[in-house]
Amino acid sequence: MQNRLQKLKQEIFDKLAEIKHLDVLRDLEVKYLGRKGEFTKILRCLKDLTIQEKKEIGKLANEIKKDLQEKFEEVKNVITKNVIKREKLDVTLPGEKIEKGHLHPITIIQNELEDLFISMGFMVLDGPELESDYYNFEALNIPKHHPARDMQDTFYIDKKNKKQEYDLVMRTHTSPVQVRAMQKYGAPLRCVVPGKVFRNEALDACHEHTFYQLEGLMIDENISISNLIAVMKKLLNGIFKKEMETRVRPGYFPFVEPGIELDIKCAICNGKGCPSCKNSGWLELFPAGMVHPNVLIAGNIDPKKYSGFAFGLGLTRLIMMKYGINDIRLFNSGDLRFLEQF
Ligand code: DAH
Repeated sequence: MQNRLQKLKQEIFDKLAEIKHLDVLRDLEVKYLGRKGEFTKILRCLKDLTIQEKKEIGKLANEIKKDLQEKFEEVKNVITKNVIKREKLDVTLPGEKIEKGHLHPITIIQNELEDLFISMGFMVLDGPELESDYYNFEALNIPKHHPARDMQDTFYIDKKNKKQEYDLVMRTHTSPVQVRAMQKYGAPLRCVVPGKVFRNEALDACHEHTFYQLEGLMIDENISISNLIAVMKKLLNGIFKKEMETRVRPGYFPFVEPGIELDIKCAICNGKGCPSCKNSGWLELFPAGMVHPNVLIAGNIDPKKYSGFAFGLGLTRLIMMKYGINDIRLFNSGDLRFLEQF
């Protein structure tokens, strides 16, 4: 029995000398010292011995067990220290470069414009992209079957609004928020509405199905078209940081009377004519006008007391002008070669 114990001790010590991994050490500990382990098995046989033998061998067995436990602990400490040594971090090594994203060019300009309008006392508002036929057309003085509906190629949705009164459309412009804002805030009112709009366009360098507009609306007593032109000029200077050549033409939009188009000289070809300006040298940038009395009435505002102007800035187009981008499809392309330039 004594021999068996001594032999086992030596066997375990030999094995421990070769161990380099903690999990192997743990397995070994279970194999020999665990409840069903070899060492425990031997101790169980003690019960068959005489009292004298039990005394002697029991003492020896306890000593060996203690030695083994201490040896296991010692090996464990050595392995742990080695692991820590191996895993030491060199904090002086250069870090890995993490690529940072940045704002989309449309967001950059939108933020700039919001700041500019806030400085002139305008609120920045939002509106639903899935809009009812009522706000998108009817409240803007474009009744059903009015030919002006053909000016905007509309994505109709085959569902109606909650009250089942009106068809739903993907909003074709940001103008529906005009009436929503009037109903919510009343007059006087100054707001801009940047946002995404949708049209069923045949795609080319200057037409996209999804693009951005910025609607502007100002209502108060005695507002005239000169207020409109002043605000537009201020806006253009703010964006281009230089005097832009502009021209004003009459324009037709059912929700304004009179309606105008403010064009800027095409910055891509400098007025010579190119695909972006349909070879005209000019770009329609600001359709605008004095808010039609029917629209004020839809917004619960008294047209005898108040007047206002509205404009619908083509945000995407404006950015194309500012940076000389010649294809509108680049904005939604997700092409990093394009996006990383901003
Ligand atoms: N909503 C029009 C469009 O997308 C643009 C527009 C024209 C907006 C005149 C206005 C406006 O506010 O007064 O075609």
